[in-house]
Amino acid sequence: MESMVMKNYFVFWTALIAVALFTGCDRNVRMGKGFVFPEGDAGRGKQAFTDLECYNCHRVEGVFDLPAPTASPEKVLVLGGKVAQLRTYGDLVTAIIHPKYELSDKWPGRANAGESPMRVSNETMTVTQLLDIVTFLHPKYQELEQLYSYRAQ
Ligand code: HEC
Repeated sequence: MESMVMKNYFVFWTALIAVALFTGCDRNVRMGKGFVFPEGDAGRGKQAFTDLECYNCHRVEGVFDLPAPTASPEKVLVLGGKVAQLRTYGDLVTAIIHPKYELSDKWPGRANAGESPMRVSNETMTVTQLLDIVTFLHPKYQELEQLYSYRAQ
C-alpha cells in the first residue's frame, strides 16, 4: 500500500519537473543549463579590468593597486566582499554583458529605474577578457554569515 503511494508521488513529481523543464525551455531560451565556463586567468583579468576602465566606477574588495575610480565616491560600487547571495560565474557574466538585467539595489546613485549606468563594453571586450575578468572577480565574493536561519527546527 505504502509503495503504491510512493510510486504515485514519484510519477507526480516526475511529471511536474518535466512540465517545469519544458515550459522553462520555451520561455527562457536565452537562459539555461548547459553553460560551462572555460578556465580564465585572474592576473590577466585584473589587467583587462584596468584596460577596459572598469575601475572608473568600481573598486574591488581586497585589491588595492587598481587605479582610483573617477566616478564620484557615492557612485562607486565595490565588487566582491560579503554578500547575502554568492554570485555564480553566470551571474557575473550576465552582470558584465547585460548590466540592466539585474539592477543592484545597493547602488545609491541610480537615476532611472530600469536603466543601468554601467557602460556596456561588448563591442570592445574580447571573450578572453570577459572570462579572465570573471575569474578575477569571482573569488572576491564571500557569503555573508547568516545571523539566523530560516530553516524549520
Ligand atoms: C559608468 C560606471 C560603470 C563602469 C565603467 C562599469 N560599471 Fe560595472 N556596474 C556599475 C553599476 C552602477 C552597477 C550596478 C548595476 C546596476 O544596478 O546598474 C554595476 C554592476 C557591476 C557588476 C555586478 C555587481 C554585483 O556584485 O552583482 C559587475 C560584476 C560589474 N559591474 C563589472 C564591471 C566590469 C567588469 C566593468 C568593465 C568592463 C564595469 N563593471 C564597468 C557601473 C559601472
